[in-house]
Amino acid sequence: MDRIIFVGAGGFGRELFGWVQSVQAAGRDWQIKGFLDSNPNALDNFGVPYPVIGDPNTYAPQPDDLFVCAIARPEVKLRICRGLQQRGARFLTLVHPTVVMDASKGVGAGCIFQAYSSVSVNVQIGDFVLVNAYTGIGHDAQIGDACTLSAHCDVTGGAILGEGVFLGSHATILPGMSVGDYATVGAGSVVLRRVRPRTTVMGVPARQIAGFKSES
Ligand SMILES: CC(C)(COP(=O)(O)OP(=O)(O)OC[C@H]1O[C@@H](n2cnc3c(N)ncnc32)[C@H](O)[C@@H]1OP(=O)(O)O)[C@@H](O)C(=O)NCCC(=O)NCCS
Repeated sequence: MDRIIFVGAGGFGRELFGWVQSVQAAGRDWQIKGFLDSNPNALDNFGVPYPVIGDPNTYAPQPDDLFVCAIARPEVKLRICRGLQQRGARFLTLVHPTVVMDASKGVGAGCIFQAYSSVSVNVQIGDFVLVNAYTGIGHDAQIGDACTLSAHCDVTGGAILGEGVFLGSHATILPGMSVGDYATVGAGSVVLRRVRPRTTVMGVPARQIAGFKSES
């Protein structure tokens, strides 16, 4: 029987733990093994009945381990989860029962689709993507590896997110717009123009603010 290991024991890890427990109660044949976190005390005082069993940077995956990516920061999750994959880890993609999904172009490994999110037709989604609650992805959109789409975002038709893009809560990407690799879009922002890689944009319309990170 597969045993679930949460990669990350922070708030997001505890949230996913609660969700997996409720899915288990609905009859899924999973056991929970524990959490990986570089902080062995990450679960202290939270009353979680499973331990931190190791550090994700060094843990050696076992044949019956099944991993859940519970890290939200794109560059961190990609480094840690790709490292585990290279050591043989199998990652589960979790789709909450309330999600409406037409995953016609495919969904990668280690993704999380939280409650009431939706994915339209002809959408392509890479590995380790987090789609948080109430976020929608429109037709023909492309979402690169390790993107984090916070709650209540609207990625509209044909929008393209590169690798490791972070969207703050309630961000909107207008049709056909592209957001470059490792760019950050602030909460509540509306992207009307192409966002360059590794830049931070915010506001309505979303603009880069002087002094924020920029690659080009
Ligand atoms: C855009 C963001 C990454 C910038 O964070 P930061 O580097 O800490 O920036 P600061 O809070 O120092 O703000 C810098 C300036 O940008 C403005 N600003 C920050 N976030 C903004 C946003 N979302 N929209 C518009 N303006 C914003 C601030 O008012 C401030 O302006 P000022 O210098 O005129 O006072 C952050 O504000 C944000 O929106 N993060 C998303 C959080 C989120 O939704 N997380 C998901 C749930 S956990």
